[in-house]
Amino acid sequence: MSWLRVVDALSPAKSPVGTRVTVKGWVRTRRDSKAEGGLSFVAVHDGTCFDAIQAVVKGDIPNYASDVTKLTTHCSVEVTGVIAQTPKGGNELQVEVATGGEVKVIGWVDDPDQYPIQPKQHTFEYLREQAHLRVRTNTFGAVARMRHCLSMAIHRFYHERGFYYVHTPIITGSDCEGAGNMFKVSTLDMMRPLPRVSPENESAESKKLREEFSKKPNMPAWTYGQVDHSTDFFGKESHLTVSGQLNVETHCCALSRVYTFGPTFRAENSNTSRHLAEFWMIEPEIAFADLQADSELAEDFIKFLINAALTERADDMKFFDERIEKGLLTRLDHVLKTPFRRLPYTEAIKILEQAIAKGEKFEYPVKWGTDLQSEHERYLTEKHFKQPVILMNYPKQIKAFYMRLNAPGTDGAPGDTVAAMDVLVPGVGEIIGGSQREERIDVLDARITEMGLPIKEYWWYRDLRRFGTVPHAGFGLGFERAMMFITGMQNVRDVIPFPRTPKNAEF
Ligand code: 4AD
Ligand code: MG
Repeated sequence: MSWLRVVDALSPAKSPVGTRVTVKGWVRTRRDSKAEGGLSFVAVHDGTCFDAIQAVVKGDIPNYASDVTKLTTHCSVEVTGVIAQTPKGGNELQVEVATGGEVKVIGWVDDPDQYPIQPKQHTFEYLREQAHLRVRTNTFGAVARMRHCLSMAIHRFYHERGFYYVHTPIITGSDCEGAGNMFKVSTLDMMRPLPRVSPENESAESKKLREEFSKKPNMPAWTYGQVDHSTDFFGKESHLTVSGQLNVETHCCALSRVYTFGPTFRAENSNTSRHLAEFWMIEPEIAFADLQADSELAEDFIKFLINAALTERADDMKFFDERIEKGLLTRLDHVLKTPFRRLPYTEAIKILEQAIAKGEKFEYPVKWGTDLQSEHERYLTEKHFKQPVILMNYPKQIKAFYMRLNAPGTDGAPGDTVAAMDVLVPGVGEIIGGSQREERIDVLDARITEMGLPIKEYWWYRDLRRFGTVPHAGFGLGFERAMMFITGMQNVRDVIPFPRTPKNAEF
């Protein structure tokens, strides 16, 4: 390559003073000095690192008046100059005729006043409406680099520990969590059920309509009152996956240590700062392991990601610390140094009840057997413990069918519990959900039946327990929640390039 990336041009080791270099990138800002003959300071960045390189352009270059003094934010340029040292000791580019300096404009910004990303502070709300351009800003450039950094760190973490990466399907015929908040996948043009009348009472008009529809291609065949899914592409009702877990368990029960990292989809109508309809999840699954081992893996994993962010993206992390969350670096340092707090759900309920007795106000009631709301989780991790907390052993009625049933009386609980865990962190709340899996076929079957789930659909999942079953455990880390935790960004919509939320799939 005949030009350098800005990150390399800025590095005194790679570009010592006196070297002649060319960089290509976009103008961040331009400032003109009043010096006689003309002198402009043009900050050029190319996204390879947080900082831009400053080009100090002398008025003697031929296109100074015609081009350089007209540069505005995000014009694309190719700049050649000689590396010099700034008073602070960093690299800058001296661009002048004597040393062959050049500024070539590659692309102008037409009508700079109309350019939606002005060199000023825009609100994150405004920038969401400009999602195609917002990555050009400091904040979203840093977010994009962090997503990459953490994605690579995730693969490294598992690869180094002998886990195999499994590509679980996006389209699925099973509802992993049994929560029913799934997006349908269908090639049928219309999913309109028949009017609720029995065939003999159907009006002539309705009958005619139905017959006409059924002649068109991709029209669903209707059985009385509902769509007949056997006429659909997959011949059965299919959905976008909410979790790769059930599929990844198949590989765990043959390869011992596996993980999946992919997009997951949930049609939850929750418009919160922590929920997306499309988000990325990392799901490791370990064989011959219990909940304790699972929680240790989760803690090591989160700490590994923090370390990767701090060591590999110090420039972006400094920006987040200064401009997004004051004290972020201190907070993360504290997380790294402190063992996570482990606490039974039953104990957490006692702590919350004591807090209420002391005057703490919650919107939702606290009662053994009910799910913790985010206000409760945040009280525990932010106010009470002020550190990450791993809550374990939840009441079985609020958790999924596949979680392992604990012995009665575990943790002194007044009812049945399962070996579930949630990792809660300050500022975000739940970041990980996981469990030891029920490996005993009889117990599993009883749970499936008790929960009213269609046991036939789980035939292959049950086979894992029928043929060489092993204790195993795993968890899911929400990638965007991890991004929020590590960057201090407050809204999950601002840590994914193109957020999908209720009533919003623009871009
Ligand atoms: O707790 P969840 O629902 O767990 C599972 O899906 C398990 N099958 C995982 C497993 O054991 N393999 O989701 C896991 C994590 C949550 O803790 C949260 O961080 C994230 O996924 N998450 C979401 N992130 C953004 N938007 C949403 N709507 C999310 N729902 C869950
Ligand atoms: Mg959960």
